Amino acid sequence: MSRAPYVGLHVATGARRATAADIVASVQREISSGSLPAGARLPPVRALERQLGLSKNTAQAAYDELVARGLVEAREREGVFVLSATRLVAPEPILSAPLPRLVPPPLQRPDLPGRGVTALSTVFIDPELLPTERIAECARSVLRERMPAQYEAQGYRPLREAIAKRLSARGFDVEADEVVITTGSQQSLDIVARSLATKRVACESPVYGYAKLLFESHGNDLVGLHLDPFKGIDLADWDRVLATRPSLAYLITSFHNPTGYSYTSAELRGVLELCTKHGVAVLEDDWGSDMMSDGEYRPMLRMLGGKNVLYVNSFTKKLLPSLRIGFVAASPELVPTLVAMKRLSTLGNAWLTEAVVAEFLDRGYYDTHLQALQRALDTRYAACLAALDELMPESVRWTRPGGGPTLWLEIPRSIDLPALESHLARRGVHVSNASAAFLGRAHLHGFRIAYAFLSETEMRSALTILADALRALSR
Ligand SMILES: Cc1ncc(COP(=O)(O)O)c(C=O)c1O
Repeated sequence: MSRAPYVGLHVATGARRATAADIVASVQREISSGSLPAGARLPPVRALERQLGLSKNTAQAAYDELVARGLVEAREREGVFVLSATRLVAPEPILSAPLPRLVPPPLQRPDLPGRGVTALSTVFIDPELLPTERIAECARSVLRERMPAQYEAQGYRPLREAIAKRLSARGFDVEADEVVITTGSQQSLDIVARSLATKRVACESPVYGYAKLLFESHGNDLVGLHLDPFKGIDLADWDRVLATRPSLAYLITSFHNPTGYSYTSAELRGVLELCTKHGVAVLEDDWGSDMMSDGEYRPMLRMLGGKNVLYVNSFTKKLLPSLRIGFVAASPELVPTLVAMKRLSTLGNAWLTEAVVAEFLDRGYYDTHLQALQRALDTRYAACLAALDELMPESVRWTRPGGGPTLWLEIPRSIDLPALESHLARRGVHVSNASAAFLGRAHLHGFRIAYAFLSETEMRSALTILADALRALSR
């Protein structure tokens, strides 16, 4: 039988020997540019090996991959042929009805400041401090398992078990059945907010902005619990606010975002007593208690308050933001509703990421990682304080949270914050506008300085620019 002639393949790799991926990419490129038409026969494996000086396996692997991608087909005893590329031509649209009317976006800002901008307020942790290699190791090990076809809406059980085990070691009384895995702790807040029968929530002012916007977007009235990171909590004032009987108090008790404040033990007890007195449920957002130096843990409301405290935490910042894994631990009677709300929102999460985090916890990597992270954060925190002490004008003050990722910098009221922001932006430094974080009038005048993202050198040069800007604008 005579075979069809084959076409020549050009695989440009410079001086480097071509890999299977190079061959796949160049065939794909030639097909989409039309230079390899449907029906064209590719060189036989042996011819390609000779042409490119490859091993048989490499050429064969490339062809197998092209077959898997549906770009070519291997016909027995005939060769490998380009398949016809079906290009659909988009028809002229016939819909002239308007777009749906949407609410104005609550807040529009990029996930990360752009390239070349020093992010002085971001609460992300420097990727250099995150255990990407070990996560990849866990991912490889998980991928050797057979992928289940089904997901569990409540979250992958081994991950829930690993979380319950970890929390129990920290003095929680919690079972895997009381844990719901979520897409970051943001989704935990979302499913709690969706589930509330009475739409009235108390939260600290200032507060983590996306929590405030989220509660508002679910139609909640918000009442503010005044938080002054320089003075602490005025429990008598909180007593008056909680007496208005919100259904829930949302509290960030350790390394509060955006002020870095941590409740004292007396405040933790005092708040629980007030919530008991006024019949207000408690939602604790514990993003920070395990970012304490010396491997210690700060006490949590959940430990003092027991199972009635709804408890939210997350692996995103501390482990790897892109994994987007958080969780809420709730008392058993709340779990079915929370799971049902999660189902409405996402049906379930990706098994793969949940299994990778479960593996990471199971191997004990998380605690080792947190210890190393705490040491690194301590060093950056100390360097940041030293730079602030040295560089800032007298009129500026800041909190000393003792850990976590952020402190609050308070500047004189005479300096206009938007003017300062634009001044800094022109010099490549970004600080967050915290105005959206307050409920009612802002009683603080400043912004977050976050020391977990920047190296000591970057931090110092950003603070130098900030100090110069503060001096320039206060003239
Ligand atoms: C206090 C606090 N809670 C919750 C979140 C949500 O984070 P994630 O969804 O990544 O867990 C953030 C994010 O910055 C935060 O600062």
